[in-house]
Amino acid sequence: MKAVIRPYQASDRDALRQIAYDTALMGRSADAFFEGEEFLKDALTAYFTDHEPESSWIAEVDGAIAGYVIAARDESRMWKCFLLRILPELLVEFLRSGMIFKVTNLRLVKGVIAGWFSGELKAPDLSKEYPAVLHINIKDGLRGAGAGTALLNVLLDSFRRDGVKGIRLATMSDKGASFFKKNGFTQLFEGKRSYFNEAAGFEVPLYIFGMKLTP
Ligand SMILES: CC(C)(COP(=O)(O)OP(=O)(O)OC[C@H]1O[C@@H](n2cnc3c(N)ncnc32)[C@H](O)[C@@H]1OP(=O)(O)O)[C@@H](O)C(=O)NCCC(=O)NCCS
Repeated sequence: MKAVIRPYQASDRDALRQIAYDTALMGRSADAFFEGEEFLKDALTAYFTDHEPESSWIAEVDGAIAGYVIAARDESRMWKCFLLRILPELLVEFLRSGMIFKVTNLRLVKGVIAGWFSGELKAPDLSKEYPAVLHINIKDGLRGAGAGTALLNVLLDSFRRDGVKGIRLATMSDKGASFFKKNGFTQLFEGKRSYFNEAAGFEVPLYIFGMKLTP
């Protein structure tokens, strides 16, 4: 069951979005913390698939899509695009569709606001040394077979060739943390995300990892 890595193409969009949704909470479905599947898929992936698709790769196992890596070479450019071109439509949809009244969503919004006021959402600004960011996910059942490592290597080689200075990511999963350590990333920060505690059933950690790519 060897993974084949290839560049993302527009026809992968639906499959990629589905994997993002199915793996959003430490490798498990976003159902546990959010009601509104298309909305969350847009929030998680629209920038990468629609505005920087050249920084995404797909892993195929036995001809079927097993996972992806999506990335932004410059996080500040990503946020600018997200705030101006993606978030306004998402906010309108959130209010228009009634998602705002769903108990699960209210719990999440309340938790995020509480986290903001308690200072839990603060993290060091690492964007100068590590301007790029990535997200990587493999379907349940196909993990542990090398697809994640192969995807990561293709992404890192490409970004190194293009002179990207450094890359970072956040993970809430201990297994994810050991994957990044094993692949040469350095842990830069450890915090927690209390607003996921109820959905996860335990205190959720947050680890930020980084890797310098070019001097
Ligand atoms: C983390 C992840 C991307 C790794 O990809 P992968 O294809 O499973 O990993 P590989 O086979 O290339 O490497 C195996 C290593 O990954 C780590 N790993 C993380 N989650 C794992 C899982 N569920 N099963 C097996 N290995 C896992 C282990 O360190 C493992 O090393 P080991 O075999 O010595 O224990 C993938 O398991 C995944 O998507 N997990 C769920 C979501 C997640 O945690 N994403 C992290 C980014 S936020």
